[in-house]
Amino acid sequence: MNIFNSLGSNYNLSFVAKNLTTRSTQREFEQLQRYLSKKYDGKVLLTYKGREALRLALRACDMKGAAVGICGFTCFAVYEAIVQEGYSVEYLDIQKDDLNFSAEELSKAIKANPRLKIIFIQNTLGYPCEIQKIKKICQEKNIILLEDLAHSIGARYRDGSEAGTVGDFTMLSFSQDKVIDSVSGGALIIRNKRFYKRLDSFILKKIEEKQEGKDKQYPLNTYMIRSTYTIGLGKLMHAFLKKLNALSNPMLYSNQGEIHSLPLAYADTIYRQFLHLHENLKHREKIANIYKNALNKVVLLDPLCSAIDSSSNLRFPIVVENRNNLIEFLKKYNIHISDIWYDAPIGPKKYLSGTSYRKGMCLNAEVITDKIINLPTHINVSEKDAVFISQKINRWLKLQ
Ligand SMILES: Cc1ncc(COP(=O)(O)O)c(C=O)c1O
Repeated sequence: MNIFNSLGSNYNLSFVAKNLTTRSTQREFEQLQRYLSKKYDGKVLLTYKGREALRLALRACDMKGAAVGICGFTCFAVYEAIVQEGYSVEYLDIQKDDLNFSAEELSKAIKANPRLKIIFIQNTLGYPCEIQKIKKICQEKNIILLEDLAHSIGARYRDGSEAGTVGDFTMLSFSQDKVIDSVSGGALIIRNKRFYKRLDSFILKKIEEKQEGKDKQYPLNTYMIRSTYTIGLGKLMHAFLKKLNALSNPMLYSNQGEIHSLPLAYADTIYRQFLHLHENLKHREKIANIYKNALNKVVLLDPLCSAIDSSSNLRFPIVVENRNNLIEFLKKYNIHISDIWYDAPIGPKKYLSGTSYRKGMCLNAEVITDKIINLPTHINVSEKDAVFISQKINRWLKLQ
């Protein structure tokens, strides 16, 4: 058994084969556009990256100089998209033992910063935020609401509405290891007609063929790495391909100010995964429930455990002291979970010093980013694997 929480986590042999042979055309591209337009009720622009969709939304808002409120527990790509478009960032701390900011935190931020005009909610790791209260505040204070579904395609809010059907904008990411994964890809759905016009004449650039080729090889390369890891070959191959810069890496992608269209070839892969979204989510939910029931309660985040049935369960988060020690312990059993989403309020940590974030701004996020580990829930984790992982974590806890 060899389990990774990233590195081509969503691919099996059938995905690899289909991905190498699929050749989408304009027809499949438009089919995906129509599907998303109906599902999320708005005008759709398909982009090469989710972060580019965020930038398009900010262009449509046309409020340069305003502040954008984001979860103080997020990805550098979100921060970067905002500053690249000439906005400033307002950090909203997450709630204790939760991964999203509260409506109360938003109200405080609006009072403290009159320039706050737009907010991004995130449903971190798939766990829904308190959208109804947040939307009410946005309506009262005239704040633009964007739902970032990078982690939460298919999640449901407490009132039963699907994530992505509430705000003025919805952003999707189809990047590697996400719920729907075509190695790279994004979408902006403009739900509020007030913003339709501004992007009408906007032309999206094409990405380089070299990058498209790299993405196409990624499922096969990562599949080979994962399946030969135990005999040592996978590790060597991984190091070699990384050295050659032959593996697509979302954190190393630099768009140098340009915004790109989703290449045609990716559209059918995304569309087909939407058609099977229900099975994907059911599997993730089942695995998350196994972790919840089998793990020692000391590592669980209670508010999240009670939201498993409405979450997209992108990963199952737990908190431990001495995280690195557990990561090393699990490696002995071929369980590789070192990819921590997020290890700093704006993660990865190595990028934090380049942001406007200052220590103490989001205290709850600072506590959790030191302790969080995410367990995999993707299709390559079986129920037996989830029990095995839980048993090993419980064993490690006893040794502490
Ligand atoms: C919350 C969130 N939003 C947006 C993004 C950016 O998505 P993409 O990699 O498709 O640009 C990420 C990246 O993982 C993310 O975690």
